[in-house]
Amino acid sequence: MSTAIGLDAIENASRDEIAALQLQRMRWSLQHAYDNVAHYRAKFDAAGVHPDDLRELKDLARFPFTTKQDLRETYPFGMFAVPREKVVRVHASSGTTGKPTVVGYTQKDIDTWSGLVARSIYASGGRPGHKLHVSYGYGLFTGGLGAHYGGEKLGCTVIPFGGGQTERQVQLILDFEPDIIMVTPSYMLAIGDEFVRQGLDPAKCSLSIGIHGAEPWTHQMRAEIERRFDMQAVDIYGLSEVMGPGVANECAESKDGPVVWEDHFYPEIIDPNTGAVLPDGELGELVFTSLTKEALPVVRYRTRDLTRLLPPTSRSMRRMSKITGRSDDMLIIRGVNVFPSQIEEQILKTPKLSPHYLIEVARDGHMDTVAVNVEMKPEFATATAAEKEYAAHELAHHIKSYIGISTHIRIVEVGGVERSVGKAKRVIDRRPKD
Ligand code: DLL
Repeated sequence: MSTAIGLDAIENASRDEIAALQLQRMRWSLQHAYDNVAHYRAKFDAAGVHPDDLRELKDLARFPFTTKQDLRETYPFGMFAVPREKVVRVHASSGTTGKPTVVGYTQKDIDTWSGLVARSIYASGGRPGHKLHVSYGYGLFTGGLGAHYGGEKLGCTVIPFGGGQTERQVQLILDFEPDIIMVTPSYMLAIGDEFVRQGLDPAKCSLSIGIHGAEPWTHQMRAEIERRFDMQAVDIYGLSEVMGPGVANECAESKDGPVVWEDHFYPEIIDPNTGAVLPDGELGELVFTSLTKEALPVVRYRTRDLTRLLPPTSRSMRRMSKITGRSDDMLIIRGVNVFPSQIEEQILKTPKLSPHYLIEVARDGHMDTVAVNVEMKPEFATATAAEKEYAAHELAHHIKSYIGISTHIRIVEVGGVERSVGKAKRVIDRRPKD
């Protein structure tokens, strides 16, 4: 892989060349997993498949899926395919229940990851010499260190701020004048609010590129960030089990969904209920097989993320459409399937409302109830009660007509919805678990 200046040759290679490389690498990866991870060997044997059964890419469908459960069962290091001494770094994701999932990297894995994040920043419009402010959290989360190593590899001047201390973030953005920021979209907005609180206009700051991900965000949210900061905002996707940030990244010139770096990760879309592989273009669950990872190869890892694969545009590799949500984030409200991102879309259509929101679901007798706590935009903080009531009414009406559920809208004071410095928490579900 090239260090950074310009594209890697494979990004513009023919589809045949990409497929040939994928097949060669997939054979290696399946064999590596089978030979070195007892858990994979047992699963392949139980399914009656062997790495030799992979003759063409579509034979992958014969292999068993891997889920978070597999990583939990082998906690902490049982899925590693190299001796522990070869693992130069671990990361872990907290998860909402049970033990965290632990992931590991050899030096070569770290080099690949850094190269792919460098490629991602380049696709976003970043160039060597740019100043890059990193506000993803450092530590066990892959966001901070992943962005950091990629920025250095590209030749940027990296400012390793991490999450939190919002007032100081603004101060350093003003003093150091970075070109690029890498941060979750929800925290980007919180940084924007802090500019306004200090009487400053975020659109006047030095930032020209925002690389946002780690949580679902809508096109409307992108438009809001771009408007407030007068910059380009692109989507970066990844997950720790597959690598971390930089599994896919949007190209600045087309902004039409993250390009999957298919030379290192083979994507499939499956029907989440039957496990059947779906054709490109259809909506389903995204599944990844790693092609080059040494420490933690993943075979058909079920991400739970719902999206579709789209044809190549700015690069020769396929794109994914913006993630509508995770199958485990889907709320079933009185029988209607609802994703928080659908509610976000309606909030952003309501001119005076800000995208800071929290959805509270409860049960009253046999009925599910939904309350949406949402703030007015800072510039409308002093709106009259009648104006607030009008905004609430407008939002409830949009949600009812576009999504089909009745909601109670609570307009809370500006700052009343708790800000997260990383991934935002969008839902509290108080319904009894039955
Ligand atoms: O969130 C890695 C990352 C860090 C990606 C920084 C981008 C930027 P995990 O903590 O393992 O890893 O969470 C992975 O976050 O399965 C998705 O549900 C969600 N996610 C990540 N990127 C996006 C995105 C990091 N661009 C989980 N859009 C994934 C929507 C995203 N959801």
